[in-house]
Amino acid sequence: MTLSHRLINLPEAPGAADNRARMIDSPSLPGASRVFELPDLAATEALAASLAANAEKRDVIALSGGLGAGKTAFARGFIRARPGGQEVAEVPSPTFTLVQVYDLPGAPVWHFDLYRLARPEDAWELGLEEALVDAISLIEWPERLGSLLPETRLDIELSPGAQSEARRAKVTARGSWVARFAGLAHG
Ligand SMILES: Nc1ncnc2c1ncn2[C@@H]1O[C@H](COP(=O)(O)OP(=O)(O)O)[C@@H](O)[C@H]1O
Ligand SMILES: [Mg+2]
Repeated sequence: MTLSHRLINLPEAPGAADNRARMIDSPSLPGASRVFELPDLAATEALAASLAANAEKRDVIALSGGLGAGKTAFARGFIRARPGGQEVAEVPSPTFTLVQVYDLPGAPVWHFDLYRLARPEDAWELGLEEALVDAISLIEWPERLGSLLPETRLDIELSPGAQSEARRAKVTARGSWVARFAGLAHG
């Protein structure tokens, strides 16, 4: 099944906009959003793979949602779908290391989990600048970066679906992602 078959536009749940405003500071760049229904892990991995095929150096993908929402599962699917990603032995959650770097052909992928980041500025010590300039950045708990989170980015907000294996992903493209994501969402 191709990704486009899974596309469904849903009305926004009451209070959803308020929740989002709390999760990530209101960006000044306008965004284009789509909601994807993900009935199982394979669907999450398929979405991650489509985005991986369209990602390039300097891209920032912000993965938000509560514990168990599927942020790490998404990142794992993304990294495995990049060139050379099949050869990566393990994609562990960076819960304690805060960042894992994957030196893949084309572009390195930096996978952050900033849940334990005390202050946004501490991200510089993790190498955030190198990631933003020279790599693809996948960032769990992006709200921890406060105003250091780049405005040009792809926001992926994961939330539980109706069944235990189901998730919903609201994907918002901002800046240079808008045109690329439009092609992907309709293709
Ligand atoms: N549709 C789905 N998408 C993502 N994860 C799923 C899905 N269905 C079940 N899961 C499971 O949910 C868990 C998500 O955990 P994880 O990715 O570590 O969450 P987070 O990083 O958001 O805390 C994993 O055990 C994964 O296998
Ligand atoms: Mg995680």
